[in-house]
Amino acid sequence: MSERARVVILRELLPAGRERLERSFRVESLGLDATREEMLAGAVGADALVTDLTFAVDGELLDAAGPQLKVVANFGVGYDNVDLAACGERGVTVTNTPDALTNATAELALALAMSAARDLPGAERDLRAGSWRGWDPRRWRGFELSGATIGVVGAGRIGGRFMELVSGFGGHRLYTSRRRKKNHLEEKLGARHVELDELLRSSDLVSLHLPGGPETEGLIGERELGLMKPTAVLVNTGRGSLVDSVALARALEDGRIGAAGLDVFAGEPTVPPELLAAPRVSLAPHIGSATFRARDEMSRIVAGNVTAVLDGRTPPNPVS
Ligand code: 8YV
Repeated sequence: MSERARVVILRELLPAGRERLERSFRVESLGLDATREEMLAGAVGADALVTDLTFAVDGELLDAAGPQLKVVANFGVGYDNVDLAACGERGVTVTNTPDALTNATAELALALAMSAARDLPGAERDLRAGSWRGWDPRRWRGFELSGATIGVVGAGRIGGRFMELVSGFGGHRLYTSRRRKKNHLEEKLGARHVELDELLRSSDLVSLHLPGGPETEGLIGERELGLMKPTAVLVNTGRGSLVDSVALARALEDGRIGAAGLDVFAGEPTVPPELLAAPRVSLAPHIGSATFRARDEMSRIVAGNVTAVLDGRTPPNPVS
């Protein structure tokens, strides 16, 4: 019998996916603390690599694995950590895990929007510090989403789902997207397709749902923040690279925007210190997809993609 294919999980895959892989392949998991050096060494001889957003999948890693490598299965819908050209040159298929995390991420965006709009972290900090001296009609006043104009930047699966969730607030809905979503967003949800500047000027809540990468890097900087209403709430569950964190912190400090809710940061897991110090900001440690259901399903999807490629079939979720 020929030797079973080797699957290297460069960090961690939940049992829902790992156990499925273990039934057919030799599986090795390097663990969450694996260093780059350990990954380069551990990848040697792999037929499949299971990767995630926390490290770069580049030519160096692919070459370390060797020419037998067939698939890079990324745990996540975003794959800006993967050098697609380098994979293409080496004939390596890249896959991702769409759909499974759509609800989870859209729900977290809503949670951050509501938390930021009412500055729940600030209020809780105050309470825990024992500074609550009794009910005060002036304190902790925030923004209401009911009747608000809500702008979704990037109306893919997650942005579209977010739009569905917020449509219960009434008000107006705007979106930017390379392709118009006439049926789903315009006819069903009454959203209007606009340019980014108009969306920023008109929205009370702006939620970013774009992928990372050079095309979207720094999309929201000083100029864009300057277009927003001084009461507007900015939410980012896409990638930290979309937003200039220094400009955002300054806009919050100066009261040029109302509040921010952020799940993603450039340079994770380091959180830009200016954001930690900024007022009216709700922060989360990149937990958009962190529900039991989504993470298990993502793990199963990773296993399905790896299995398909190693069995010589087209995987369900190729990105290249
Ligand atoms: C995932 C994400 O948890 O899927 C994505 O693109 O950003 C996250 O929600 C992460 O990618 C895990 O690798």
